[in-house]
Amino acid sequence: MTTDPQHPIGVFDSGIGGLSVLQALRKELPHERFVYLADQAHAPYGEKSGAFIGQRTHAIADYLLGQHHIKALVVACNTATAAAIHELRAQHPALPLVGVEPALKPALALSHTRHIGVMATRGTVCSDKFARLLGSVQDQAHFEVQACNGLALAIEQSTLPDQAEAAQAQITQLLQTYTQAMGRFGSESGQIDTLVLGCTHYVFVEKDLRQLLGPGVQLVSTGEPVARQTQRLLAAAEMLNPEKTDTAAQPMRLLTTGDLQGLQAAAQRWLGLPPEVCQAVPALLSNPAP
Ligand code: DGL
Repeated sequence: MTTDPQHPIGVFDSGIGGLSVLQALRKELPHERFVYLADQAHAPYGEKSGAFIGQRTHAIADYLLGQHHIKALVVACNTATAAAIHELRAQHPALPLVGVEPALKPALALSHTRHIGVMATRGTVCSDKFARLLGSVQDQAHFEVQACNGLALAIEQSTLPDQAEAAQAQITQLLQTYTQAMGRFGSESGQIDTLVLGCTHYVFVEKDLRQLLGPGVQLVSTGEPVARQTQRLLAAAEMLNPEKTDTAAQPMRLLTTGDLQGLQAAAQRWLGLPPEVCQAVPALLSNPAP
C-alpha cells in the first residue's frame, strides 16, 4: 500500500448510498482526491449473506489498492462494515481504514424521550457487530430496531429515469410501513423522538421521512462523524494532502460495477458532478451469485 499523501482516498458502498458519505468527506477534506466505487452489480448488500459481502469487500479493497493506489479506505456502508471490517483491518493493518455503524451513541445524546428508532438493512441489524453495539447502550434508552428490506434497492432504482416513478411510490410505501411498525413518533413521553438512519442510502430519503414524521423527530446519520474521523486518522498518520487545491479542482473518479447511467444520475443529482467523472468497471464483476 502507498503512504503518498497525494494519493486518493478510496470510498465504497454497495451502490449510491455512500455518496452521502462522500459529500461529507469532500466538505471536511477539501484538498483530498477521492475515488468512489459503487458495487451496483451486487446491490443491495443488505439481504445477502455475510460471506458474500465479505468477498466483495475484500475484492474491492484489493482493486482500489492495486489499481488506484489509495492511501486510505472509507467503507461507506453499514452492512459491509458489520460483515467485514474486522477481517479487512487484519488483512491491511497499515491501511488507514474507517467504517460506518448506526449512530446509536450520538442518538442517545440527542433523545429526550429515551425512545430511539433505528432503521438499517437486515444484514446490519442481524450482525454480531450490531448486537454488541446495541448491547452497550441498551440500558440507557429504549431502542426500536427495524430492518428495512427493499428500501436501499428502491432508492437505487429511484435514480434511473425509467424506474424513478415506480421506485418513488415504493419508497413512500416502505417508509410508511416501517415507521408504523416502529411505533409512535413525536416529542411526548413514550414516543420516538430520534431516528437513526443506519444505512447510508437512507440519507437520500430524509426529506420523505421528515414529511412523514414531522419536525419534532430528529434524524441522525453518520456522514459527518465519519468524515471527521477520516480527517483525524490521516492527520495522525501525517498523510493529509499537502497540496492545497480546492475540492472542485481535485480529480474525482466515481466507478461502478453496474449501471453507469444510474451512478451518473445520482452523482449529478446529489453531488452536482458531471457524467464524465463516472466510469464502469465490469472487471470487478467476477463474483458468483450469493
Ligand atoms: N448503503 C449500505 C448500508 O449502509 C448498503 C445498503 C444495501 O446495499 O443494502 O448498509
